[in-house]
Amino acid sequence: MDRIAIIGGAQLNGEIPISGAKNSAIKLMAASLLTDEPLRLTNMPRLADTAFLGKLLHRLGAQVDERDGPDGAETVLHTREIVSTIASYDLVRQMRASFNVLGPLIARAGQAKVSLPGGCTIGARPVDLHLQALEALGAKIDLHEGYVYAQAPRGLRGAEITFPFVSVGATEHAMLAAVLAEGTTVLHNAACEPELVDLEQCLNAMGAKVWGAGTPTITITGVAKLHGATHSVIPDRIEMGTYAVAAAMAGGEVRLTKARPDLIDSLLAKLEEAGAGVTRTADGVIIKRNGARLDAVDLETQPYPGFATDLQAQFMALMTTAKGESRIRETIFENRFMHAPELMRLGADISVSGGEARVRGVETLEGAEVMATDLRASVSLVIAGLVARGETVVSRIYHLDRGFERLEEKLGACGAQVRRISGGDESED
Ligand code: UD1
Repeated sequence: MDRIAIIGGAQLNGEIPISGAKNSAIKLMAASLLTDEPLRLTNMPRLADTAFLGKLLHRLGAQVDERDGPDGAETVLHTREIVSTIASYDLVRQMRASFNVLGPLIARAGQAKVSLPGGCTIGARPVDLHLQALEALGAKIDLHEGYVYAQAPRGLRGAEITFPFVSVGATEHAMLAAVLAEGTTVLHNAACEPELVDLEQCLNAMGAKVWGAGTPTITITGVAKLHGATHSVIPDRIEMGTYAVAAAMAGGEVRLTKARPDLIDSLLAKLEEAGAGVTRTADGVIIKRNGARLDAVDLETQPYPGFATDLQAQFMALMTTAKGESRIRETIFENRFMHAPELMRLGADISVSGGEARVRGVETLEGAEVMATDLRASVSLVIAGLVARGETVVSRIYHLDRGFERLEEKLGACGAQVRRISGGDESED
């Protein structure tokens, strides 16, 4: 199993191009099931998660062609026919977002059998809101032996759906199913995340009629058929935020390009409050810190446009060496402080109580062996390693490979001493 070793102390100077958004790409890939024509996705990130979903879609009938286009990596997905409507436990367990094929399968094939995803390290993560939305659209849902059996032989019908709280996945799922439903669907208390806007734009390019994504009310008028399209995946705001935090942590000056700084305003405001230099540019942002320690700042995670839960672990790493005490409240997932004990192995002073962590900044961290517990937690350990004295070795980095494209290369190009150690340490699992 691969590990990543970081020798701390080097400043970061240079440019990092931001990839297409993982969380958007995987929903857009699922959207390809809705048409028998090719969907061409450009600005695609090449990640373990996108490769994995490609395999699942192939089993369902998609021809998946990954290639280099004029603007970088692209994937063409073409599902002439749905050849299977089953997504097994084995597949959904490995990647929760595989569950999002359920809606498109019901919408296009009238039936599906998809495994329930089960819990994950950051919390129970139920899918009740997904299922309620699909039922409201007229799908008959039965649960047996860990599987969702869904039927809508005469197609789905538009409905008014009010989500009891904001869920990104359930909003996307309802949108993916409602585009082929008969009549109009209105989603109330919808998630406003930028990935929803990206999905709306892609679906509309395919002939759907969706309005209002990015606001709490989304209206979808169903159409009988969707067609092929070309769509460029939105830049990854979490990757951008991660490198912004890395630059603030290590010091130096890093220019993030091919990005959308407007999508991480809440993070950039916190970085400025802490004392980092933030300059927005036409296609990104420049993050700068020269010498002085940052100040501790408090934060609370919130649905978009609030501070993203997917950047909480990285910001906690940043606060471990800030001046003073930072209070970090996690409100989206119940168990998302798994990185705290690992950061403490590097010398951080953190106490966690319920949904709040208190981080008392220390002058220096010290390199140690640490273990990645989930995707965003793993990158927080790399960020801490950038300033820890000596060597930090992060194991279980398959989590990292799920969501960060060429991380060692991107950080290395700015002067970080990061290397991948292939194989070894069988004891880690
Ligand atoms: C997506 C992102 C993830 C991000 C999260 C919140 C993807 C692949 N993942 O996850 O990176 O951290 O948004 O921004 O896009 N919930 C329920 N019932 C449901 C659905 C959700 O109780 O049916 C709960 C969840 O357990 C969680 C909260 O609602 O506590 C928000 O989850 P949700 O917004 O759905 O997150 P995901 O779509 O799973």
